[in-house]
Amino acid sequence: MTAQAQILDFSAPDDISPGMALQGVWQDFANSIAAMGNDSGYGDNDEMCSVLNHNTVLMHKLLMSSATYRNIVNSNFSRLVRTKHWGWRSIYEDELGRVGLFSVYRNAPVPMHDHPGTHGVLMVIEGEVEVERYTLQEQCRNRNESGIVDLDFCERKIIKPFEITWFQEKEGNIHGLKSLSDQCVMLKIQLPRGVNCNRSWYFPTFSTGGGQKVMPARRIMNRFL
Ligand SMILES: [Fe+2]
Repeated sequence: MTAQAQILDFSAPDDISPGMALQGVWQDFANSIAAMGNDSGYGDNDEMCSVLNHNTVLMHKLLMSSATYRNIVNSNFSRLVRTKHWGWRSIYEDELGRVGLFSVYRNAPVPMHDHPGTHGVLMVIEGEVEVERYTLQEQCRNRNESGIVDLDFCERKIIKPFEITWFQEKEGNIHGLKSLSDQCVMLKIQLPRGVNCNRSWYFPTFSTGGGQKVMPARRIMNRFL
């Protein structure tokens, strides 16, 4: 049986919009994510992970008050339209950022990619996914072109329901995702809202199974894919 976050019995007599469900807390949620890139934001990595995890679980619970969100979760995510190798359904967005459901599938890994100028959090709702995160080395950041770059390894781990991964504006801004279940659905919050118009994809120049400290990769600008 596929692992799934068990909050389907969450009491939600009213059908309110996702925006209403987050009213009064969205700003604080956004602040807790924005604090990732702020030197004085968190005492250490454990504190950051704990706060972000807590807040994302809470956000999920609040969003279950919205039929828009709840129906997707309770319908085994069949309303998530699969495009390319993944599925995406926008739930809420404003000038602070955007919230949505993101889905990846077995045998359809999402290659490593960046999120220029943004930071965000992903929490698994159903399934399991292996996430590999990297940081683009400083001297490569100003290049706005395809080519070979060096990536610093951050971590590689499997996340399960109610567990999170994240990307900061600089550190760990690049990640790749591989679903270990038929479908893995995640709640994703990304700030600010801006579209990833300058996104790049990264393909390792040699295969070592991953995990090495510095990994050379071929960077390809999104406009060429
Ligand atoms: Fe991503």
